[in-house]
Formats: sequence, C-alpha cells, structure tokens
Amino acid sequence: MIYLADTANIDELKELFSYFPIEGVTTNPTIIAMEKKPMSVIMPQLVDLVGERMLHVQVISNQAEDMVREAIAYKDKYHLGDNYFAKIPVTKEGYKAMPLIKKEGIHVTATAIFTQQQALVAAKAGADWVAPYVNRLDNISSHGIEVVGNIVDNIERYGLKTGVLAASFKTVDQVHRVSMMGSQAATISFEILERLRSHPMTDMSVEWFEKDAKGLYDIEF
Ligand code: E4P
Repeated sequence: MIYLADTANIDELKELFSYFPIEGVTTNPTIIAMEKKPMSVIMPQLVDLVGERMLHVQVISNQAEDMVREAIAYKDKYHLGDNYFAKIPVTKEGYKAMPLIKKEGIHVTATAIFTQQQALVAAKAGADWVAPYVNRLDNISSHGIEVVGNIVDNIERYGLKTGVLAASFKTVDQVHRVSMMGSQAATISFEILERLRSHPMTDMSVEWFEKDAKGLYDIEF
C-alpha cells in the first residue's frame, strides 16, 4: 500500500520525508486553512518539498468549467508534471469535469466519496484515484472499511484502471484494515503516521539491546 501524507504543514512534511517512505501528499481546503496562509504562499513551498512524489491538490470551484480552469491553473502556475493530481469532489459538476480535465492531460483524484457507486461512477468518468472517506463514514454509523473493500473489489471485478486512495483516518486500526482490504493507497495525517510506525516495545527493546551491548561492541566503524 502506498502511504501519502494528508497535510500541507511544511515542518510535518520535512520530518516525515526524512524517515517515512511517503510517496505523495494530499491537500484539501480544510488542510490548507489549518496553515493560516494563502495558497499562493503554501503552493510553491509544497511543490518544492514534494519533488517527484505525488501531489494531490483539491479544486474549490463548483462548476465544471471552472474546475477545469482551476486544475489547469495549478499545473501551469507551478509547472506541475506527471505527479500532479487534481482532486475533484464527486458532485454532478465534478463528474462532468473529470473527463474534461483528463483530456487536458491532467490526472484526476475523485474525492469526498461515501458510497461504492460514487466510486464506480468516478472510475468510469476516468478518475485515476478514488478517495473514500473512512472515518467520516464510521462516524455516521456506516462502515468505512467495508465500503473501501467493496470499492476495491468492484474496480477489480470490472477491470478498471483506477486506484483506491483511502482517506479520512482517525485510528491506526482503520489504516491497518483498509490495507487488509487491498486499498492501493491511503492518505494519513502526521499524527496517525507517527503512531502507526512506532511501538513502545520497539523503543524498550532497543534500550535493552543498548544496555546488553555495553563494552562488547568494540569494532570501529
Ligand atoms: C483527503 O484527501 C481527505 O480530504 C481527507 O483525508 C479527509 O480527512 P478528514 O475526514 O480527517 O477531514
């Protein structure tokens, strides 16, 4: 499963990129708002830092033609290449915009997905990735993991080329379970990424090893 960072925070990204095999970054308007800076300040920093990793940038327009123009504007303004994905919500206008954006040579990530059918429609509309919102589903007494599993199965069943990019996580267990469902990717906050890679027993074991090694490891390096 591909890990992506669901953050636009430069310090968090620098830290993650130093040790975690992160293959991309996703943003949405809420994530941008958390930085308390405008897109014109955040985007150049993000583009610079993300490098060749995937960069998924959500449009805020709500009419198809504007979504297309906005997706193109990010590409042109920041010289984005093949690693750029325009995140398009699965509204009626969003579905209309998807094939048009693809025609412009821009990859599409269909976002704000809450049902299996929304994902299937987006895949048929040409989306490269579909992003179901796991925790938001769990919080409305639905089953995020099950929805992700069904989307993975359906896409495979119908031979579609779209990948599943599971999103919206509040626990490590949700991430673990979407990986067991075969989700090709997951976008995860800094906090959950930190939690999922660490365990107190690992730290304790390393401490014990260091104690046992004292005075015995005399080979220079
Ligand atoms: C990512 O692309 C989604 O927009 C994001 O994961 C939503 O997460 P949230 O439900 O924690 O806001």
